[in-house]
Amino acid sequence: MRSHHCGNLNIKNLNEEVTICGWIHRRRDHGGVIFLDVRDATGIVQVVVNPENEEAFKIAEDIRSEYVIKALGQVEGRPEDSQNDQLTTGDIEIKCSSIELLNEADTPAFPLDQSSEVGEDVRLKNRTLDLRRPEMQNNLRLKSDLTKSIRDYLENNNFVDIETPILTKATPEGARDYLVPSRTSAGNFFALPQSPQLFKQMLMISGFDRYYQIARCFRDEDLRADRQPEFSQIDIEASFVEEEDVMNFAEEMIIESFEKILDKKLSKLPKLKWHDAMERYGCDKPDLRNPLQLIELSDIFKKEEFKVFSDPANDNNSRIAALIVPEGQKIGRGQIDRYTDFVKEFGAKGLAYIKVEGDKISDLASPILKYLSEECLTNIMTSLKVKKGDLIFFGAGREKTVNDYMSRLIAKIGDDLDLLKGDFAACWVTEFPMFEEASDGSLTSLHHPFTCPVETDLEKLGKLNPLEINSKAYDMVINGVEIGGGSIRIHKKPLQEKVFQLLGLSDEEAQTKFGFFLKTLTTGCPPHGGIAFGLDRLAMLMVGAESIRDVIAFPKTQSALCLLTDAPGSVTDESLEELHISRKED
Ligand code: AMO
Ligand code: AMP
Repeated sequence: MRSHHCGNLNIKNLNEEVTICGWIHRRRDHGGVIFLDVRDATGIVQVVVNPENEEAFKIAEDIRSEYVIKALGQVEGRPEDSQNDQLTTGDIEIKCSSIELLNEADTPAFPLDQSSEVGEDVRLKNRTLDLRRPEMQNNLRLKSDLTKSIRDYLENNNFVDIETPILTKATPEGARDYLVPSRTSAGNFFALPQSPQLFKQMLMISGFDRYYQIARCFRDEDLRADRQPEFSQIDIEASFVEEEDVMNFAEEMIIESFEKILDKKLSKLPKLKWHDAMERYGCDKPDLRNPLQLIELSDIFKKEEFKVFSDPANDNNSRIAALIVPEGQKIGRGQIDRYTDFVKEFGAKGLAYIKVEGDKISDLASPILKYLSEECLTNIMTSLKVKKGDLIFFGAGREKTVNDYMSRLIAKIGDDLDLLKGDFAACWVTEFPMFEEASDGSLTSLHHPFTCPVETDLEKLGKLNPLEINSKAYDMVINGVEIGGGSIRIHKKPLQEKVFQLLGLSDEEAQTKFGFFLKTLTTGCPPHGGIAFGLDRLAMLMVGAESIRDVIAFPKTQSALCLLTDAPGSVTDESLEELHISRKED
């Protein structure tokens, strides 16, 4: 149909007769001469239609934005004063000899070059239009290149691509399941996989040694900017491996992809133990581009009279975290009040601060000085190695709450003061606890129940406080986003049963939910481990998008709706009856 793509034409094609196809990006009528910017997947080229060419001119007069055309003509150089250096084709144009109108288009719901001012709902409703924008084209093309680079790495390293079922049984990853009623098995439901976790482990038991899959996962959970109810994982598992082995190849794969796709060299990833990450950054996904860190100060406030600090200093579940902002003296009172209001939104009771105006105690300025002893102030200055100009914030209270709001404060101040260094900072977070306490006091897995504890001796394990058991789990974090997580797995049945017990599963429940899997563990299960990366999150990071929706062609909204198709939709009573489901009477 065409001889060239629009964006590929250049001065080398001078005087050639070409045929191009594409959409009308813009049409300008310049006193008798009509200029058409024609766009295809490769870019935009200008087509000039002169009135002498009556037939083509007549068609061009009626053409509107987003009409689809085919144009024939000769490539000509543009006069110097009308060259456009914004376009790769800016020094040429096509002198049109004929136009064929391939299809008309309704007036677009929004102009394609002003998407930033268009609400996301409008973009999602008119997604085919939105996806034509160069930004979205680039995002999805980069994601395709990324997928290829990942596949190349894994194939070159003997990983076998194997599909696993979508209609399956629940795999717990901490979210609600999407359920599919069975027509043939009355009253029973399939669950869509939250991940292929158990299947990939069973592939190791099946002797495949190294598996991978770009796997679709489904999770019914509260959505945020970096979460979708259905998303893709780069899912990987290997046999006869330890933590180091998995981290080494996973890291090599990511470093190779950043180099191939973005021409960026990531340095070897530092490893941070989970406990250290929580102490220093208040979270387990630190943004290492941000130099701000927390310093634990509980010890020096233990004997103080100021209860705001001495109470948490003497409580095991609490902490006092100091945050030094170098040159923070320039932050005025109004801004400090705004930071205080900000942390209060996340449960802080206040945000004490001290300004350091010199190197003596008398150079400290703060409303809380009057409550603190001289010894304490000296300790603050020496422990924190403060410098003139520093501003110190203090978060005191329950450890979880302080960690939450102080990590947010680190991110906010880092942003406000433009402290972030470099494009990408990646790290590993290791030695996660096995369990965390839910609000009702029960234990839940920090990763998933198939993660191997560091202590594998059943007797010794039984004697430990479950909250102090560490696991062989690791997460990869880039720029404060968790892009991947995995672990060495439990490969022996008694240990797996013990972990189910600790999670409060009765033997009967464990059997009903995971009996099939427990059985396979006794058929000769090799030690194994793996990892899964969020493909969409990785792409989002690489293109620098604010939202995961900008790297997914047809995403769902924050309320898990597809505005383009109006899914989910209603079903008829007949369909429900076939599925053995009756409507609840209101
Ligand atoms: P996990 O639950 O940590 O581990 O998921 C792995 C990675 O998948 C991405 N991810 C998501 N991306 C978009 N939307 C979501 N709702 C979403 N949820 C998770 C994240 C995350 O790091 N089976 C284990 C992996 C393993 O142990 O091998 C698992 O699924 O980037
Ligand atoms: P108050 O005694 O509540 O007036 O607080 C005295 C100072 O301590 C104020 O600057 C508060 O912002 C600060 N403050 C109060 N509670 C906390 C807390 N939990 N953590 C840090 N600072 C606090």
